This record gives sequence, structure tokens and C-alpha cells, in this order.
Amino acid sequence: MPSDHINDRRTFAIISHPDAGKTTLTEKLLLFGGAIHLAGEVKARGQARRARSDWMKIEQQRGISVTSSVMTFERNGITFNLLDTPGHEDFSEDTYRTLTAVDSAVMVIDVAKGIESQTRKLFEVCRLRNVPIITFVNKVDREGREVFDILDEVANLLALDVTPMTWPVGMGGNFEGIYDLATDRLLLPEGNSREFHGKVIQTSGLDDPQLDEMVSAENLAKLRDDVELAQAGYPEFDPVAYRHGDLTPVYFGSALKEFGVDSLIEALATFAPPPRAQPAEPAPVEPDRDEVTGFIFKVQANMDPNHRDRIAFMRLCSGTFKRGMKLTPTGHGKPIAIHSPILFFARERELADEAYPGDIIGIPNHGTLRVGDTLSERADVRFTGLPNFAPEILRRVQLKDPTKTKQLRKALDDMAEEGVTQVFYPEIGSNWIIGVVGQLQLDVLLSRLDAEYKVAAGLEMAPFETARWISAEDPKDLQEFIGLNRGAMAKDRDGNPVFMAKSAWEVGYIVDRYSKVKFAATRER
Ligand code: G4P
Repeated sequence: MPSDHINDRRTFAIISHPDAGKTTLTEKLLLFGGAIHLAGEVKARGQARRARSDWMKIEQQRGISVTSSVMTFERNGITFNLLDTPGHEDFSEDTYRTLTAVDSAVMVIDVAKGIESQTRKLFEVCRLRNVPIITFVNKVDREGREVFDILDEVANLLALDVTPMTWPVGMGGNFEGIYDLATDRLLLPEGNSREFHGKVIQTSGLDDPQLDEMVSAENLAKLRDDVELAQAGYPEFDPVAYRHGDLTPVYFGSALKEFGVDSLIEALATFAPPPRAQPAEPAPVEPDRDEVTGFIFKVQANMDPNHRDRIAFMRLCSGTFKRGMKLTPTGHGKPIAIHSPILFFARERELADEAYPGDIIGIPNHGTLRVGDTLSERADVRFTGLPNFAPEILRRVQLKDPTKTKQLRKALDDMAEEGVTQVFYPEIGSNWIIGVVGQLQLDVLLSRLDAEYKVAAGLEMAPFETARWISAEDPKDLQEFIGLNRGAMAKDRDGNPVFMAKSAWEVGYIVDRYSKVKFAATRER
């Protein structure tokens, strides 16, 4: 396989807090990448798609995107795969798992707000996997905080080195453009709306007298002072530190006015890593291995309400995938022939004839493929590192029509399989318990039970608040613990023992008392 099919792939996600401008930036990236032609298509298309699907009413009601999708665009010979992550404050495990399928991330922050809670949570997930991050500070066309303030906040809150790559010339009402520190180019707005239409002035540096004609005296003096201070105070850009996840280059811009979008694409092309080796057993899988391997990081049901199909999203990790190829899910099942793989483009889905490491392929199936599954030609590897997270909210499921027990069990199992919610079957009693990381997942659950499975159900408080997967080196210790705590024991969908705790305090107490038992807040599948 020609190695450029690997080196020319950039698979990334955008992480941000709601309202920071992720949708706008996504749209502009696709626009600059030629994948769409009119701004507004991402939103418009989103609405059309939502209107088609019943359970997605919930997205419409809340005006948010619950589901993640994949968008591909090309520029200057580089293929960019952008994996969308839900941007609502309530996040699901879906979001986390999507981040296991990317090689790098763009962190969008609002210049007036800095690092917000959701950004921080998502950043922590990236850090766990050393995912390198490019920072985009958005909305500089509006009044915002001092540039130094923002840079220091990123450095201090996230414990990262920061290198400013561009610098805004004024902000809000005084905004006059963006100065690129690496190339000494000044990007200028044009027209009444002060948008960027490609007007770029090459200067010989900040002392260039041209600048006096382009920029107000006040902004120019501040720019010169600030940049001098910044260059003394922040480290130079180091691509190795960036790829280790220790340093983030920071770009300033305005997605709305199209400032900085070009520089961001350029940065992704130049600095962001191509597909990396993926953690697996018995050994990490390098992208240039011949054999086709990949893992499922997401399963989505009913993308098309006319077919009750599911789409499993596979991240290709090695080899050249060809349509019709047979792949075997590790651990269970026979080889399956993949006749209708889907590549996701901004505007439509297309059948994929070939795909390369870093690409995402949608595989239609009827429930055979599960989140966490490895697919490979020879079935001798298993990807690791797709975590299940300890639920932060537990609820008892109350069935309104007792004749629907079977349907309910199927629905709960299905959704656990898709990673929408987790399900726990208590050792004692018949009230099944649902575990989620964010409130929104509960709404999705109820809405789908009703719309897809025709099961009317309610949720009531459970006597537990959180859960831990338990294990022990000596099975006797585990059995003893289970015996003593039977009232708080349950099994997850895969039959693993789970301890349910009444409070975080109880977790601490129990962990201290049973030193031979391991309590895990995440479980790798
Ligand atoms: P999100 O996906 O991260 O939630 O954010 P989104 O892109 O939807 O942007 C949130 C709001 O911020 C939108 O305004 C959007 O127009 C605005 N915005 C995004 N980027 C910029 C920017 O660079 N400069 C300025 N000034 N505004 C920006 P809205 O009024 O909520 O929505 P809309 O009615 O304009 O679509």
C-alpha cells in the first residue's frame, strides 16, 4: 500500500462547550474544504435529517445534536475526517468513544468565556489518550478577554504549554485583523460586515512601516508590545511536544467572519498526526500493517426510519479496505462480508469502494456488531481502550404494561449494546436499573422505548447513586465480597459483577475496607 494513503489522512474531532462556535466552525471548514458550497448547509441539512426521524424529535425540541456523525473533506491532497461530537452540556459515553477514534482534536473556546466545563471534561479524555490539541480561540470580532488572559488560562487550567501562532489586532469594535506570527502576514477584513475575503498583506515583520497604514496607531502599538512580551514569555512551537499532547498551538479567529479558518486547516495538514498506532492486544497495531483491522466506536440505530438497520461506525486502523471484503468480529461470530460500506460526506452518504487507515466506514447490520468490537481479516488482534464509564445517574425502570417485559429487556439490551445507556440486573429483585453519565441519555432512552419499541415505561429514583466494576486476584475474595454485599450487587449486560453504591462517600468507605477487591470506575471492553 502506498504510504501516502496513511500520511495524507487527518482524523480529528472538535471539542468545545456549547455555543463556543463548533457548528459554525465545522461549516466553515467544510466550506473551505469544498465539501459544501453554501454556508448554512450544515444546519439546514441537520434540520432536514432530524425531521425525518422520529426519535430525533428530541434533538429538534432541544435544538441540539444528540448523535455524532462523520464528515470528510479534502484539501491540497489531504483527506480530513471530522468526527462530530455532541456539544450539549449533558454528554454521553458516545462522545468519549468518538474521541477514541481520532488522532487529534481542535479545541474551540469563546474568547469572552475561556475554558468552560464541557471543554474541560472533553480535554481530560483527550489527555488520557495523549491526543494532541490545536486551540482555536473564536469570536475575536466580538469584545472578549485579553489575549494573555486566555493563553494563561489554557496553560494553567489544563497544565499545557501554549504557543500563540496568530495574534488578533484589536477585538470587538476595534477588531482590525489577525497577524500570523510564523509568516508575518496580516489578514485584513473587507466590506461592511468586516469578513475575511482573502486580503492578506505580507510584511517584513512587526516593524514594517506598511503596518502603520493598515492598522490604527493604538492597535499597532499594542500589537507590537504584546507580541514582544509573548515571544519572551511563551515557548516556541515544538511539533514533538504538540504530538505528545504537552503543548498546544493557539490560533485566534472568527468562524463567523471566516478569520483563521484557513490557518487552522493548514495547521491540521502540517502539524496534526496522521493515523497513529492503536492500542491492542497482543501488541499495538501500526497503520502500515497489511492486514485490515478496525474497531467499532459507535453504533447508531434508525438513521433511516424506513429501514430498521443499524449502522456500526468502524475506525479503520490498518490495511486497505475493499468493498465486499470479509472481516471477522473478534471474540464472537463468523466472518461477515461487508458489501455496503458507507463513507460519510458532508452532503450525502456514498458507497465506499476503498478506505484507508484513519477513515471511518459505516457498516449496516442487524445488531451483530457492538461497540468495542474489533473487526479484522485474521481475527488475531483485539483493540483495547474503549472504556465504559461508571454511571453518574442510576434509575429504576418502571414498566407501565407488565406484558411487555420481553420487549423491555430487548430494548435495554439493544441500547446498552449501542452505548446509549448501561443496564444493570440486580442480584436481588426484578427491577432493572439503568445507568447513564448525563441526564440527556435518560430522555433519549424513554423517547426511543416509546417510538421504536412501543414500550411505555417510566423511571424512578434508585436507591443507588453510582456503580463500580469489581474484580480481585483471588476469586475467593471476590465471592466473599459479593456474598457480604448481595443487596448492592448486580450484573452488567455482559455478566460482569457490579457494585452499586448509595453515595460517593460509600464508595470511598468500601474501597478502604476491602483492600483485596479492585473497584473500577471504567471498564475496557
Ligand atoms: P456550537 O455549535 O458550539 O453550540 O455554536 P454555534 O456554532 O451554533 O455558535 C453559537 C453562536 O455563536 C451562534 O449565534 C453563532 O452565530 C455565534 N458565533 C459562532 N462563531 C462566531 C464568531 O466567530 N463570531 C461571532 N460574533 N459569533 C459567532 P446564535 O445567535 O446563537 O445563532 P445564529 O442564530 O446566529 O445561528
